[in-house]
Amino acid sequence: MTNLSTNYLGLKLNNPLIVSSSGLTNSVEKIKKLEELGAGAVILKSLFEEQIQAEAGHMISDNSYPEAQDYLLQYTKSNSVEEYLQLIENAKKAVSMPVIASINCITASDWINFADDIAKAGADALELNIYFLPTQKEFSSEKYEDLYYDVITKVRKKTRIPVAIKIGMQFTNLVKLIHNLYIRGANGVVLFNRFFAPDIDIENMKFTVANVFSSPADIRDSLRWVGIISDQVEKMDIAASTGIHDGKAVIKQILAGAKAVQMCSVLYMQGVEKIPVIRKELETWMEQHHFKSIEEFRGKLNLRQIPDPSIYERTQFMKHYSSYQ
Ligand SMILES: Cc1cc2nc3c(=O)[nH]c(=O)nc-3n(C[C@H](O)[C@H](O)[C@H](O)COP(=O)(O)O)c2cc1C
Repeated sequence: MTNLSTNYLGLKLNNPLIVSSSGLTNSVEKIKKLEELGAGAVILKSLFEEQIQAEAGHMISDNSYPEAQDYLLQYTKSNSVEEYLQLIENAKKAVSMPVIASINCITASDWINFADDIAKAGADALELNIYFLPTQKEFSSEKYEDLYYDVITKVRKKTRIPVAIKIGMQFTNLVKLIHNLYIRGANGVVLFNRFFAPDIDIENMKFTVANVFSSPADIRDSLRWVGIISDQVEKMDIAASTGIHDGKAVIKQILAGAKAVQMCSVLYMQGVEKIPVIRKELETWMEQHHFKSIEEFRGKLNLRQIPDPSIYERTQFMKHYSSYQ
């Protein structure tokens, strides 16, 4: 018998396929369907720090951008914090797979008090999507990174619920950053978030939005770093994310060391019915290779198998690029 179960953030998942935080996970009906189709866990649609702050009566008063205030008030009205707690409670009653809440944040401010409400509502874990664009030359890199440390340190003081940090990959020393998050109490890391990206309409000379969905080729950065982090920060659980569109990508990420994978774009583009297809691909591959459990092959191809990644990278680079004349 092939056992697809995995342990992520101290939670037992029936299989490693997690549905990412998005509109795919914003209602109990959708979440129930995802479980029926065989998802291993869900990350709820994110609640934004600004929503929590606004409802707590902060921020609105000292925000110097009136347009932003209007938007915030509008947004908050239709996405209340209370509704979010209700969603957690109802989802927990409706499904047996883990339900992980998500907060999108940029500061370590008052919103952190809310982390405990999330735990009390019954969420199995909390994913923190931390992102802000470093655009100020007055700020050192360390100062930006301190913000990530502040968030996890303060959240850890508020609640014992398992916490994963969802990050982008643009850090000078990702290994050190993730190690520091681990020693401050993070249980897992999501590699990587895919951010809203701008494009330019050259006819109208205006900023527009680039494609919000990933493509299968987008797996490569995540794959490299999952392979490095699973060796260098061994105790940190990793959920691979971005560009995972089929069973092959899931297998690659587990071979690199991921404990679970998150999927979003493929489910928007091909429908949530893709979940059992991907699950079957994983199961069939495991049977063909005589693996009875995920742990038997997880990390088999991580950095430990490639002792000097710089030489590996450089050799490959020389080999492949020299063949193009
Ligand atoms: C329509 C849409 C909505 C999303 N909403 C959220 C969100 O609320 N919170 C979050 O952390 N990520 C959000 N994301 C990012 C996804 O969770 C995921 O990290 C990203 O799309 C990369 O995975 P993929 O390549 O499987 O799409 C969203 C993505 C899409 C396409």
